[in-house]
Amino acid sequence: MSSLTNKQIVLGVTGGIAAYKSAEIIRRLQDRGATVRVVMTRAAQEFITPLTMQALSGNPVHVDLLDTEAEMGMGHIELARWADLIIVAPASANFIARLASGRSDDLLGAICLATQAPIAIAPAMNQGMWHNQSTQENLTTLQERGVVQFGPAAGSQACGDVGLGRMLEPGEIVELAAKQFQSGLLAGKRVVITAGPTREPLDPVRYLSNHSSGKMGYAVAEAAMEAGARVLLITGPTNLRPPERVEVKQVTTAEEMYQASLAALDDCDVFIASAAVADYRPRQAAEQKLKKGTQETMTIELVKNPDIVSAVAAASPKPFTVGFSAETEKLLEHARDKLQRKGLDLIVANDVSDTSIGFNSEDNAATLIWAEGESALTKRSKRQLARDLTGHIAGMLAGR
Ligand code: C5P
Repeated sequence: MSSLTNKQIVLGVTGGIAAYKSAEIIRRLQDRGATVRVVMTRAAQEFITPLTMQALSGNPVHVDLLDTEAEMGMGHIELARWADLIIVAPASANFIARLASGRSDDLLGAICLATQAPIAIAPAMNQGMWHNQSTQENLTTLQERGVVQFGPAAGSQACGDVGLGRMLEPGEIVELAAKQFQSGLLAGKRVVITAGPTREPLDPVRYLSNHSSGKMGYAVAEAAMEAGARVLLITGPTNLRPPERVEVKQVTTAEEMYQASLAALDDCDVFIASAAVADYRPRQAAEQKLKKGTQETMTIELVKNPDIVSAVAAASPKPFTVGFSAETEKLLEHARDKLQRKGLDLIVANDVSDTSIGFNSEDNAATLIWAEGESALTKRSKRQLARDLTGHIAGMLAGR
C-alpha cells in the first residue's frame, strides 16, 4: 500500500509553462490512492484550463477567494483544514515571493496561510529568476518556516536558457510527496490504541453505550502507522474502516477491551487510550429479552468497569501511557488531576462543550498536558491533530 492511500492533497497550480505537467501530477497522485483538489491562480489559467484539471481530478477546481458558493461548500478555510498536504507545482517566482511575505489576497495564498498541513513547493522558473537574490532569500525564509522544497532540476528551459529552475518531473514530485507521510518518528515502536465506544449489554438486544465515533482513535492509529510504528488498534463497534497496515482487534464490552489491552502489554512501547469506555455496566445481562411489565419504573443495577488506562499505567514494565480527557468545564484542572490519578505520561484534554469539535465531528482542538508542561493544539482536522500528537509522543520518548 502506498503512503498516499486515502491522503487528501490540495494541488496548487501557479502561472508557468510547467503548469501542463500538473495534469500528470493529479493522475499519479490518484494512482497512489490520494484524493486531489486543485486550486489554480489566475495566471495558471492562462496555461491550462480549470476544466481540464476538473475532469482529471474529478472534483471542482477552486480559483476564487471570494466565491459565495465556494465559501458555503469548500471555502478557503475548509480546504486548508481538509488538506493533509499542500503541493504547489509549479511554484512560480511570484508565488514564492507572495508565500514568503504571507499574502492572502488570492485563494491559494489564503489556504497556505490558514492551513496546519505541511506545504511543499516545486519551483519552476527561468534560471536567471531562480538565481536572483530575492528568490533565494524568499526560499530561505520559507525553508526556515518549514516549507518543503521539491527541486528544481537543471536542464534546458522553455525560454532557451540552460540551468537550474526546471520543475521536477511529475513522478519525482509524487515520490517526494509520499515521503512526507513516512516520518519514521516512531520506527520500531509498538503502539497500542483503544478507540470507539464500548457496549454494555442489558439483554440480547439492548445495551448501554455512548456517542463516540472512534474517529480520533482511528486517526491516531493511522498517524502512528505513518510514523513507522507497528500498530494494534483495539476498537469498540464503529462505522469506520480501519486504516490499512494496522492490526485490528474488535471488541464490544469494556471487559473485553480491558482483557485485550492487558494481553497486548507483552509487546507495547506506547499505549494510547482514546476509547470512550463505559464507566459502568449492568450487573447482569439478562439471558432473554427483558419484557415490558406493568410497573412504571425500572431499576437496573450497575457495577463499575475496570479502568483500562489506569491498569496499563500500573503495569510493569509500564509503556508510555497516554489518556484522553473530555470535559465540559475546568478542562485543564480536571485533565491534570486525571494525569496524576491514572499515572499517565501524557493526557489529551478536550473541551467537549464546544459542539464543533470532539465526539462526532471531523475537527478537534486539544491541550496536551504532561507533568512538566502543556501545549495547546488549536482547532484542526482530527488527522492533523493525530499527527501532531504522535509527533509530540515521539519527542517525549526521544527525551527519555
Ligand atoms: O475517567 P475518564 O473516563 O474521564 O478518563 C478518560 C480516559 O481514561 C480516556 O483515556 C479513556 O480511554 C480512559 N478510560 C479507560 N477505562 C475506563 C474509563 C476510561 O481506559 N474504564
